[in-house]
Amino acid sequence: MKTKILPIEDINAQFEYMNLIRAENDGFAMENGFRKGAFVMTFGCQQNEADSEKIAGMAQNMGYEIVDTPEKAYLIVVNTCAIREHAELKALSIIGQYKHIKQKNPNLVIAVCGCMVTQEHRVNDIKFKYPYVDFVFSTAAIHKLPELLFKKVSKGKRLYCNDEEYSVAEGLPIRRESNYRAWVSIMYGCNNFCTYCIVPYVRGRERSRRKEEIIAEVRGLVADGYKDITLLGQNVNSYGKDMGFDYDFADLLDELAEIEGDYILHFMTSHPKDATKKLVDVIAKHKTIAKQFHLPLQSGSDSILKKMNRHYQMDKYLDIVDYMKTKIPDIVITSDIIVGFPGETEEDFEGTLEALRRIRYDMIYSFIYSPRKGTPAAEMPDQVPNNVQSERFNRLLALQNDIAYEINQKHMGQTIRVLCDGPSKNNPEVLCGRTEGNKIVLFNGSVENTGNFVNIKITKCETFALVGEIVD
Ligand code: 5AD
Ligand code: SF4
Repeated sequence: MKTKILPIEDINAQFEYMNLIRAENDGFAMENGFRKGAFVMTFGCQQNEADSEKIAGMAQNMGYEIVDTPEKAYLIVVNTCAIREHAELKALSIIGQYKHIKQKNPNLVIAVCGCMVTQEHRVNDIKFKYPYVDFVFSTAAIHKLPELLFKKVSKGKRLYCNDEEYSVAEGLPIRRESNYRAWVSIMYGCNNFCTYCIVPYVRGRERSRRKEEIIAEVRGLVADGYKDITLLGQNVNSYGKDMGFDYDFADLLDELAEIEGDYILHFMTSHPKDATKKLVDVIAKHKTIAKQFHLPLQSGSDSILKKMNRHYQMDKYLDIVDYMKTKIPDIVITSDIIVGFPGETEEDFEGTLEALRRIRYDMIYSFIYSPRKGTPAAEMPDQVPNNVQSERFNRLLALQNDIAYEINQKHMGQTIRVLCDGPSKNNPEVLCGRTEGNKIVLFNGSVENTGNFVNIKITKCETFALVGEIVD
């Protein structure tokens, strides 16, 4: 299927709605001496963060001031996630709390979008249990926010926009959260249908952005002084496959990394079945590409990998990991692991622990399997009881913590380049930053380092953070 690039007329139509709302909001600001606020609440992955930056960009373009608390808002957009039940429950709980804000400000418009409400049963939940939500829109309809808002405000009826035609929308305004770290989506959707995962059902099939658009965006970011740029896609390794020409993700990364400037490129996520040695070679070749690879394993058992429909077995996975470690000895490798997938036996789980011992990840994101309505795994027999899942989860964490602690000791005494993020959230007395492998580093220094690279000599290595001092 050929990717549909949204026609420019469709984007222009949204700009016309933005102008109409802007005129109204400018009038409000003249009369009242302040601008209406818009608050965007985001759950879930970086893709959602990136979508929310477009939502905030459109809101700003419509004459709203982006505010940091829902109480100050005249427009609230909740961008939801559906990856695990917990994410949905959190979103529903927040939406529940906004009822009180709406009671105080009846002019408040509340919209809910994203993966959770791209499922029919959740749209019905909102319809019937959250009557004060004004409109709902699916992931395919993010660009339609101005139109929906205009129709809601002018006609007053509740709206449910469940567009299913997925396209690539270029040219929307983006309001970036940071002025030194940026997300750049290079593709959307997923074709893989891992049996536990809801993503293909709520984000549609894979579609790539044109490389010219991506290169121009990254060039612009580097020129604007952005230091850390993360290329996003559910499976960046299938970039370009829907475009019908001979140009893959390794080619794109190779071309982007040639851009002159003081920055570092990250990318996520890679599916192991599509990770190529060519890509590893490109990473090894460029200083501007972080020596980091996020390669979700999910399980260390071949039989579970099969049930997960992952299309690789341990030998293939280990082959690419070994190649990475040989080509790039200081590479940081991270992973996602699911514990307690249906049918997972003690022996299967032991396979996952063994994989951790063999691969020695710097860090993992671990999850207890959460059944997702409509996915094949939710219907599989032998669902693992909660107590067994939790017990395995704790064993996994204990092992990984030991490994991460041991790995981190190698940084003792090293001088590492770190991108400073400003005062640490846990202890504002110290600064916090990240290495190119995304490890957290704590150090003393001036807040003015925020957004800049600093060299840090490491004096202490813990499981989740390194500690050090600034050197010239
Ligand atoms: N249950 C638990 N974890 C899940 N993930 C995806 N779907 C589920 C689910 N149903 C995890 C996978 C994926 C990460 C983003 O979330 O590990 O890589
Ligand atoms: Fe979900 Fe698998 Fe696609 Fe990742 S590759 S988004 S885990 S279906």
